[in-house]
Amino acid sequence: MSDLDILRKIPDTGYREPAPTHDVKEFYNLVHARRSVRVFLDTPNEDSVIEKCLELALLAPNSSNLQPWEFYWIKDRNKLEKLRNYCLGQSAARTAPTLIVAVAKTNTWDRNRKKMLELFDQQDPKPPKGAYTYYKKVAPMAYYLGLFNWFGFLKKVLSFFQRIMGKVVPHAPTSYCDMRVWAHKTCALACENLMLALRAHGLDSCPMEGLDPHKIKKLLKLDSRSEITMVIGAGKRAPNGIFSKRVRFDSQLFIKKI
Ligand SMILES: Cc1cc2nc3c(=O)[nH]c(=O)nc-3n(C[C@H](O)[C@H](O)[C@H](O)COP(=O)(O)O)c2cc1C
Repeated sequence: MSDLDILRKIPDTGYREPAPTHDVKEFYNLVHARRSVRVFLDTPNEDSVIEKCLELALLAPNSSNLQPWEFYWIKDRNKLEKLRNYCLGQSAARTAPTLIVAVAKTNTWDRNRKKMLELFDQQDPKPPKGAYTYYKKVAPMAYYLGLFNWFGFLKKVLSFFQRIMGKVVPHAPTSYCDMRVWAHKTCALACENLMLALRAHGLDSCPMEGLDPHKIKKLLKLDSRSEITMVIGAGKRAPNGIFSKRVRFDSQLFIKKI
């Protein structure tokens, strides 16, 4: 069996989850209502709401379900003040009662892969063999880079020749840079979940990458394999919180039908 067969085969696990229906209009309203808010009221957010929104963030789709993210909800006043400063003192960071740092993790995939296998072992009935193979063999092949990227380099060379031979070669990170993209991609999806969840609870948000990542990493005592995806300010919108009407260019510029 080739590794790709795992993706092609439809397993009969017996599990069924019928598609639910939703209020589409409410969803449209929610997406339209989310704006980047730069001035917040001085009203503290309820912890329980932030907790629920963070839980919803964790439901975002993520690569191989390896969940390469962390969310730091800064509660300590001293740290919060520092963080506001490290977000360049911008108004959203200065006024938001809650700041959450979204962190992309490039080095937790192996821990989480093992956790997944442990979870499989506890399940009854057991997941299909392909699921085990995925986390035992495919994931390490895809995400392992090795000391000084020796395995990443090998993957790069092999995939180069496979492409020359006309093969369809699945994308896999072949450098630390690729791993960074991989982790940020997934982490950003969770950020959008978080911001929509906040809006659904009547709160607003501002995603920020205008910040000093080195200082923030030091503040949070993060290792070198952790990257700041963005800081999200959250709170109640001040009357002057949105500076102008939403601007988007013509969708034809971005949506290509081919
Ligand atoms: C990754 C990212 C980084 C951003 N950084 C900042 C920032 O540092 N400061 C800020 O005021 N807005 C920031 N924004 C908000 C954008 O400016 C905003 O999303 C854009 O202007 C569109 O406006 P809207 O969110 O209201 O639709 C950022 C947004 C994203 C997605």
